[in-house]
Amino acid sequence: MKKILVIHGPNLQLLGSRKPSVYGRVTLPAINRSLQATARALKLELTILQSNHEGEIVETIGSARKRFAGILINPAAYTHTSVAIRDALEAAALPTVEVHLSNIYAREAFRQHSLMAPVVSGQLAGFGPDSYRLGLTALAGLLAVKRRKG
Ligand code: DQA
Repeated sequence: MKKILVIHGPNLQLLGSRKPSVYGRVTLPAINRSLQATARALKLELTILQSNHEGEIVETIGSARKRFAGILINPAAYTHTSVAIRDALEAAALPTVEVHLSNIYAREAFRQHSLMAPVVSGQLAGFGPDSYRLGLTALAGLLAVKRRKG
């Protein structure tokens, strides 16, 4: 089974109570349960990390290359600020899907730029918790194409 690293960035542990008008009422454990169900259907194995620490995220991505086939990441606020996470993703050079619950392009100007976007395979934003499920499905598709190409 292919192994996928799932990373939830800062403050996403607060989902459910954090700004429900933007992020909805679904909690992070509920998102993770739904991701696990999708992963089972896609025959993928997930390792899930939520971290509020840039260094921990950088280190986890840094050791991902040999252990994982792909990465699903919501870098949260680090999307807009972290050159370190961007560089770690670039160095890992794994198929990577960036997801956001909200449509970052319809929000404040500072959220409308993703430092990650140029180094990921693709991005999904604006579908609420469904962004994760769609993102994992997209990642499975990328891995299948890679396998066919050899
Ligand atoms: C977010 C969007 C970011 O701008 C914000 O800092 C988050 C969550 C999203 O999923 O919509 O924490 O990544």
